Amino acid sequence: MTAVPIPDTRTVLVVADADAPDAISSAVLTSRGFSAPERVDTLAAAAARLRTQPFDLVILPIGGAGPDVLSLIEHDIRPIVPFIIGTAADATQELILGALRAGIPEFVPAPMQADELDVALRRLLRRMEPTPSTRGTVVAVYSAKGGLGTTSVAVNLAAALAHEQPAARVALVDFVVVGGDVRVMLDLKPSYDIGDLVLKVDRIDGELLSSLMTPGPAGTLILPSSDRPEVQDLIEGAATSTILAQLRANFHFVVLDLEHYLGERTVGALDVADRIVLVTQLSVPALRSTQRTLDLFNRLGYPPSKVLVVVNRSNAESALTIGDAETVLGRPISAKLPNDFSACAEAMTKGVPVLEHEPGSALAGSFRQLAASMAGTPVVSNVASIVAENGDPRKRRLFRLGRV
Ligand SMILES: Nc1ncnc2c1ncn2[C@@H]1O[C@H](COP(=O)(O)OP(=O)(O)OP(=O)(O)O)[C@@H](O)[C@H]1O
Ligand SMILES: [Mg+2]
Repeated sequence: MTAVPIPDTRTVLVVADADAPDAISSAVLTSRGFSAPERVDTLAAAAARLRTQPFDLVILPIGGAGPDVLSLIEHDIRPIVPFIIGTAADATQELILGALRAGIPEFVPAPMQADELDVALRRLLRRMEPTPSTRGTVVAVYSAKGGLGTTSVAVNLAAALAHEQPAARVALVDFVVVGGDVRVMLDLKPSYDIGDLVLKVDRIDGELLSSLMTPGPAGTLILPSSDRPEVQDLIEGAATSTILAQLRANFHFVVLDLEHYLGERTVGALDVADRIVLVTQLSVPALRSTQRTLDLFNRLGYPPSKVLVVVNRSNAESALTIGDAETVLGRPISAKLPNDFSACAEAMTKGVPVLEHEPGSALAGSFRQLAASMAGTPVVSNVASIVAENGDPRKRRLFRLGRV
């Protein structure tokens, strides 16, 4: 399979004549790392174009925009475009406020002047840059057994974090690096995936990361898994730690959906994680596997506060109770996620998180509570860096164990 080319520039879509004359805006855009713009005549055409290809920036006219137009921008354009600039010849304060509410963060008077476009672009780019002190919280979602709900928890937790903290940049990364389910669960048609990122591992920065990630629910950015088997071997050791370090530096929260097999990559991710959400269920096989995993975490030196045991499908028919689980595992259960077959099945069919499909459900409420409990001070892992860990005999022993 041929590799997908990676853009060195951000792409721009201009609606009607919203920008400056072509030569001027192309020059300004290029100088700030954007491509020369593609043009469409109407907002509806823009929405249709965006469904077939992602663009990084849309420049659109908002002069005289009524509630219908603002609603189209808010619901069909804003969620899938990182940057939007609105323009109008005679903008009232009311119009600018309405545009802001629709999610248009920048306004430039029309006809656009080169210097005004440049100022707006600089402001947008600055907002994308991490603050120097950014050290995001990495949350690894894991279970040793398959089918317990790891991917469901990762997807909904990322969406809940973004809902709970609208100012936070939240990344969701499918660390089942080949054939993972995040793209299926969210019905994504990504242009790029983690395989494209690893090919550029020597020059990853915030800009490259953002350009390769796919917009997801509630403003999250998603790094989906690859469908190229060779990627499996590329994302190991140093590449894993570089990718995770860059994600941490550029996002406030990084949620990882981990594979069940405890290989080097998965252990590396568990090591650098600030929090591990260990997913289990109220069944004997699930709890026994969780018991073994907690024992391994203990041997790896993870502090108990790093691990949150979460019981999924907690009210499903089961002879076991939460109390039984706490006794067996010798530690408290941090969260209970109720069983809700129809909400999960319908959300999956629609390709959205349960949190969006049924925001009022008890399950959505539990995901929000779990997200709120993550928002506190991150617990710093006592195993500092996976680069330094590659030679650790503890790890080599563990890799041989494989699935626990
Ligand atoms: N709280 C819940 N209530 C009802 N069904 C659920 C719940 N959580 C997950 N499910 C369902 O359980 C199934 C498995 O979930 P999911 O794919 O998230 O698990 P997984 O651990 O990631 O599995 P895999 O082994 O494929 O990686 C899915 O059909 C999902 O919709
Ligand atoms: Mg899964």
